[in-house]
Amino acid sequence: MNGVLEIEGGRPLAGEIRVRGAKNFVSKAMVASLLGEGISVLRNVPTIRDVEIVLGLLRAHGVGVEHDPVAGTVTMNPTGAGVAKSADIITHAGASRIPILLCGPLLHRLGEAFIPDLGGCNIGGRPIDFHMEALRRFGAEVSKEPDGLRLVAPKRLQGMQMELEFPSVGATEQLLLTAVLAEGITELRGAAVEPEILDLVAVLQQMGAIITLETDRTYRIEGVDSLHGYHHYSLPDRIEAASWAGAALATGGDITVLGARQLDLTTYLNYFRKVGGRFDVTDDGIRFWHAGGDLSSIAVETAVHPGFMTDWQQPFVVALTQASGISIIHETVYEKRFGFTNALRRMGAHIQLYRECLGGQRLCRFGQRNYEHSAVISGPTPLHAADIEVPDLRGGFSHLIAALAAEGRSSVSGISLIDRGYESFTDKLDALGARYWRH
Ligand code: UD1
Repeated sequence: MNGVLEIEGGRPLAGEIRVRGAKNFVSKAMVASLLGEGISVLRNVPTIRDVEIVLGLLRAHGVGVEHDPVAGTVTMNPTGAGVAKSADIITHAGASRIPILLCGPLLHRLGEAFIPDLGGCNIGGRPIDFHMEALRRFGAEVSKEPDGLRLVAPKRLQGMQMELEFPSVGATEQLLLTAVLAEGITELRGAAVEPEILDLVAVLQQMGAIITLETDRTYRIEGVDSLHGYHHYSLPDRIEAASWAGAALATGGDITVLGARQLDLTTYLNYFRKVGGRFDVTDDGIRFWHAGGDLSSIAVETAVHPGFMTDWQQPFVVALTQASGISIIHETVYEKRFGFTNALRRMGAHIQLYRECLGGQRLCRFGQRNYEHSAVISGPTPLHAADIEVPDLRGGFSHLIAALAAEGRSSVSGISLIDRGYESFTDKLDALGARYWRH
């Protein structure tokens, strides 16, 4: 079901909503359960499509899973795990990239794994070369099959040393999930240190793993012979929190995001404040609001943690269309993450894309290549209604925000993509007083 939302915009969003566990963590923590010899319990799990995908993949591999969506609890028992049919993996994975992270745990548990040809959001090439190099170095053998890749471990995987060319989140998680049960020591240099990864390290530590993070982005993992289950409460979704904060700015509204945590959002909050947004941190969450008057323009460069996260960029761009003056965004994580601005331009925004590295302190990997990865936004420009097709998860949510800010009735199609990462977002729109119709 593709789903169309007709939105009557031009009204400030105001009210209170709650975010639960981070999409970019819970899927990985669920995969980690395959490493344990006992039952694992994950709490604060949101009901989103990505969670359903991992539940399906775990079930396909014989893991006993129970999901209580209201309580937000997932219980996983890997005792009966076995090899899944490639066709079942393909069916459950759909367009998701999650299967690649099952490789290490499955190689340890079953001696083999299958990765279907991968999908995910269309925001760049999204290669998997770091993942494959890591798995080969651990001792896995890879062969091509018609619908994907088959991996086998002829013997126990061995610890190894590797340096990442770029601090990839997924590749760092791949190494952690594989190294914990590999024989000997693994050292990973140039790794990512996003809060979701550190929460995964916490889960693995509970399971019995020995992982040290040095000051220079190096993880040192001492492999152990076995791991047990875990009980863990997921960290909140800092991307969803920032998305609703962007909605408050763009619509001139006032949104309290219960469950949001300041610690995960400190970089975002600095920029939110610099453009003129106000926030108030309480024990239960963060209130974000537009204090009236004009927003200020700004230059932002996306980066790996602790920088300004690439997934915060799109809703922030919508808010910047309402700021006075010229704002610049330099996207350094993905080469093609400005596709969503086409629709904003049709709605009246003035956004120009450039191949050069603009507004940042340094050249990035995309600077000498043919990618439009810098955006110049001049504002403020009133937005008007339009018919929009959602391109990807984060870009799609930003279209939703633009439609909510725009005068008139917009039609946003393909919104089921947003269900992948935003829990019950239409209920939240209700709570914030949005006017919309879902077809
Ligand atoms: C994760 C997040 C995504 C976020 C991104 C960066 C999940 C489910 N998704 O994606 O929301 O935007 O981190 O914070 O957690 N790369 C390679 N080779 C590889 C792997 C990655 O060149 O083998 C490159 C990518 O093309 C990209 C960059 O590294 O340019 C970052 O990608 P990565 O951090 O791996 O993103 P994901 O883990 O896929």
